Amino acid sequence: MATVLTSVTAAQRLDSRGKPTVQVDVETSDGKFRAIVPSGASKGDYEAVERRDGGKAFGGNGVLEAVQNVKEVIGPALIAKGFDLKAGLKEIDSFMIDLDGSSDKSNLGANAILGVSLACARACAAANGIPLYEFLARETQSRRQDFVLPVPFLNVLNGGVHSGNPMAFQEFMIAPVGAASFAQGIQWAAEVYQELKAIITKTFGKAAIGIGDEGGFAPPISKPHEALDLITEAIKAAGYEGLFKIGIDPASSEFFHDGQYDLGFKSSEPQKLSRAQLTDLYQGLVGKYPIALLEDPFAQDDWDSWSAFNQICKVSNVELVGDDLLATNIRRIEKASQADACNSLLLKVNQIGTVSEAIAAAEKAFKLGWSVFVSHRSGETTDDFIADLTVAIGCGHLKSGAPCRGERVAKYNRLMDIEEELAAKKIASSYAGEAFRYAHANAGS
Ligand code: PGA
Ligand code: ZN
Repeated sequence: MATVLTSVTAAQRLDSRGKPTVQVDVETSDGKFRAIVPSGASKGDYEAVERRDGGKAFGGNGVLEAVQNVKEVIGPALIAKGFDLKAGLKEIDSFMIDLDGSSDKSNLGANAILGVSLACARACAAANGIPLYEFLARETQSRRQDFVLPVPFLNVLNGGVHSGNPMAFQEFMIAPVGAASFAQGIQWAAEVYQELKAIITKTFGKAAIGIGDEGGFAPPISKPHEALDLITEAIKAAGYEGLFKIGIDPASSEFFHDGQYDLGFKSSEPQKLSRAQLTDLYQGLVGKYPIALLEDPFAQDDWDSWSAFNQICKVSNVELVGDDLLATNIRRIEKASQADACNSLLLKVNQIGTVSEAIAAAEKAFKLGWSVFVSHRSGETTDDFIADLTVAIGCGHLKSGAPCRGERVAKYNRLMDIEEELAAKKIASSYAGEAFRYAHANAGS
């Protein structure tokens, strides 16, 4: 017997920055399934479009129109179609894409469509009597046979548009690649985070331990090497020297103007670098610190810089991740492939607006021989969907902020649940560790 949607409803709720977001509830004979949509601050120009109401309420950020679109347009249309949730999510997602009719989901709103897609994925899993990660793995054609738990990249120092300090670079992440399991990696990272707090307190005083949007500290520093020195000291103090790698997301589209990168964009003193000077800065950092991953080192349309830098990354074995550059969009991925501009896709479900398209983007990246790095948004909720998605596609790493703030740790906690559940069920699984970039390619090994 088919399992069909009997109710689809939505409500306006708040995200981790106190901005409105869309919550969706769908119902089947198996029960009620909920999802809440995240939202970025350093958004790329090529992302699917969230519907915001404008006007006075919430400074124009209300999402009542998107909520209405779920309740009055998407919900009734889906219920009328009577999709069998046992058959999977793809038809539901393509139906919503057609119903919207635009190329960027601006008619109904990517926030409306994604909420329904996420909630329906949970309903599909229940209809099949399997956990969400197993259902999403079934939706992924190229999945490996065993499950792989990701290396968490924890953003412990926040800058850019996510914090009020003068640091231009947005994220400094620590990755416990030397741990034996996901749970151990989280333990180590949480210990390093506490050491970092103590070092910042000692160096800058107690007033400096406030945190940014993703739970990382935001001390009064502005130079990347100051951040990396603090992190290095914290890793050492915790006793894990050599067992962590570092990732940086400068989110450089935010400070690119007229062909130059202004590292002073948050202070009154401009500090403009040419493309070549910024490249030199990155090369210096990669040579000095154990940096395994760089995301958006150049702006989303600065193709020449990306292509040139990708050649350097090949030699220095650095993962070069496209976030704003790719926007989880297959057309952008194809363009980047032709330009040989990067070697990894940042996967954010709300950049494209449906779960099926996000999975298709990951598969496209895998086919190109790239890595895939799953990501939260800076405006998050306690919805932990991306934890299951990461395990499902077997991409070996994700970022969900610091080991701090409920909406960040929700994903890490869910991943620890999954790790324990797989062990209890004696289902083959492993921690991605040092080879995180190639976890997907190591299928069946
Ligand atoms: P955002 O930041 O969610 O504000 O876009 C995350 C990122 O740039 O990776
Ligand atoms: Zn980014």
